[in-house]
Amino acid sequence: MTDLREGVLDTFAEVFGRPADGLWSAPGRVNLIGEHTDYNEGFVLPLAINRRTIAAVGVRDDTRARVGSSYADELVEIDLADLGPESLDGWAAYPLGIAWSLGRSGADLGAVPGFDILVDSAVPVGAGLSSSAALECAVALALSDIWQLGLSRPELAAVGQLAENVAVGAPTGIMDQSASLLGRRDSAVFLDCRSLDSEIVPLGFEAAGLELLVIDTGVSHSHATGGYAARRASCEAGARALGVSALRDLGVDDLTRAREVLDDETFRRVRHVITENQRVLDTVRTLREQGPTAIGDLLDASHRSMRDDFEISVPELDLAVETAQNYGAIGARMTGGGFGGSAIALVPSELVSRVRVAVDGAFAEHGYAQPDMFTVTAADGAVREQ
Ligand code: GLA
Repeated sequence: MTDLREGVLDTFAEVFGRPADGLWSAPGRVNLIGEHTDYNEGFVLPLAINRRTIAAVGVRDDTRARVGSSYADELVEIDLADLGPESLDGWAAYPLGIAWSLGRSGADLGAVPGFDILVDSAVPVGAGLSSSAALECAVALALSDIWQLGLSRPELAAVGQLAENVAVGAPTGIMDQSASLLGRRDSAVFLDCRSLDSEIVPLGFEAAGLELLVIDTGVSHSHATGGYAARRASCEAGARALGVSALRDLGVDDLTRAREVLDDETFRRVRHVITENQRVLDTVRTLREQGPTAIGDLLDASHRSMRDDFEISVPELDLAVETAQNYGAIGARMTGGGFGGSAIALVPSELVSRVRVAVDGAFAEHGYAQPDMFTVTAADGAVREQ
């Protein structure tokens, strides 16, 4: 992390020919439980992870915006006056989309100064760990600070979501940006995606001798295309057919009626969301009353629901989850939007290497590419580093 910070400052100075005015960082996230519930105005329980995106920022004395990163060769440059969703593409759509989105949330893009930004990241891209939210949130906090907008963290999360929805074109919810901005060390963020009220829930993994293992299947996914939007549409159709504004308004008692009213596929989509909301509430209660060693069954049930009812898992994720469960994880599930990306497994510390070896072996046996595996801890959300 220190190296990453120093590297970004050095590269900023090399690329822009002057030192940066400040350095901001924001983490990626793992969702412990509560999948595809955010855009249904339900509950989520993500944690910010100890892998961050760093942004060095310098204020300019004109209205140009220039963004560079250690993973793209070229600088992208634009005048603030020309920022618009249609003028943005590639990776630069994330940081510049944030500047545009801040313009929708009170920044006067005709009056604020331009900026130079250089970013680097330790959040793997395409692993389902919200590298995009980490980038958005680091830049949102940085620009909010240098433009003195005084936006709250929930407001910054909404800025990030708007950028992702409009500038990037992915119809995602508010979870990832909220985790990246509100996360706290050793804790998860329990977020009500309707009221946007949040509570910090201590996880106590370390004290309980547990580690959170991420298994990145390497199967790539994109939420700007295909399945994610289709699931969202099914949920909205289900809510309409059941006469509620969002699936959040339904509980497990409504499932009998839902089965009568809906076609089989829509019913299963709806059942996932309704039961998943309940599992989030149960997980929060269990963490508080019994501690993390008691949440395994809820994680397992969440995975089954995503595999069978919501149908967003892939064979690699199922194999990772089943193998982890069979070799000692107390619970495991895919995390994030699905169709690829990562699984998480909650594993007693002394069994982590056994699980890793078993997952490697199972992937090799099935002819799948070797997955990338690493443990993560719950970290603080976005900060100004210096
Ligand atoms: C992606 C989206 C989130 C959320 C999850 C599924 O990560 O960005 O808003 O919908 O998928 O829970």
